[in-house]
Amino acid sequence: MSSQENSVDENLPSGHDATHGEVERAGDPFADPGLPAHKPRIQDIDERAAKRSERTVAGLFLLSMVATVAFIASFVAFPVDKSAFIFPFGHVSILHFSLGVTLGVALFAIGAGAVHWARTLMSDVEVADDRHPIEAPPEVKAKVLQDFAAGAAESGFGRRKLIRNTMFGALALVPLSGVVLLRDLGPLPEKKLRSTLWARGKQLINMNTMEPLRPEDVVTGSLTFAMPEGLDQHSEEFQKEIAKAALMIVRIQPDEIKDKQELDWSHQGIVAFSKICTHVGCPISLYEQQTHHVLCPCHQSTFDLSDGARVIFGPAGHALPQLRIGVNAEGNLEALGDFAEPVGPAFWERG
Ligand code: FES
Repeated sequence: MSSQENSVDENLPSGHDATHGEVERAGDPFADPGLPAHKPRIQDIDERAAKRSERTVAGLFLLSMVATVAFIASFVAFPVDKSAFIFPFGHVSILHFSLGVTLGVALFAIGAGAVHWARTLMSDVEVADDRHPIEAPPEVKAKVLQDFAAGAAESGFGRRKLIRNTMFGALALVPLSGVVLLRDLGPLPEKKLRSTLWARGKQLINMNTMEPLRPEDVVTGSLTFAMPEGLDQHSEEFQKEIAKAALMIVRIQPDEIKDKQELDWSHQGIVAFSKICTHVGCPISLYEQQTHHVLCPCHQSTFDLSDGARVIFGPAGHALPQLRIGVNAEGNLEALGDFAEPVGPAFWERG
């Protein structure tokens, strides 16, 4: 060690040793050989600098106290509705502005004081914590097993069969209380998810214009949303029923439709599918006309409307149910029945 280093060591406060790491390594063959020697900070070797840091930290904490008092005073002093022009925010409530500023200063000053304290005055000597084998030696393991066996014997767990068996019974039964609480989730849906308001002869109402939908309204490349006729948009029933009955309609060239049933259930290439995603029921809204894919925005399930709306990507487990449609005497699109299977996730309703 050089004489210069020795002179530095003499000036260090107790507990601060410029060669601390090296001294520890010298006596510890397992110490990390890469741990650098401690470099003293100015506060470690100059008591006046340490005092300055101390005053700075105390000043920040005092500033925080003052800001907190100012926060409380603002709360009492300023009415909620009084505002003023404060550059660059414009007209703002004086109360909200002063509460924000004073609380911000109070919290910032505590944080800044703590950081300055840690960086300049608390010990910054790096200490290596060496790893030791974590497996217990055989004699310790044997002792633990012996203690466990002794404890089990003393508890009478094996001997007092009545207590043991009733305890197992109690532990097995207690989770049933959670099952009973399921009742509070509401009544079971029973058959309500199996059917929708769609039925033979119900006209398709354009949800945009609220007029009956005609085949000529459905142009290639567009995505049209429809609901069954007779549903009042402002009624409570609408909220309940539209979640099952919402329909999306596209026009596809008949020779591009790959699925035979889809073609049979369409009208001149106009196909109608449930708008409710079969994953967890989000409404589908994105249509790519080149590929006839629709995308659910929630988890990106993608369905091919030219191929029976089968799932081609994402977590949905089923194709979108199709509604069979035709045209009535007035030339409007109408349903030829309900969906053939439950719409949406319908986890327990599908066969
Ligand atoms: S709800 Fe449609 S992908 Fe999840």
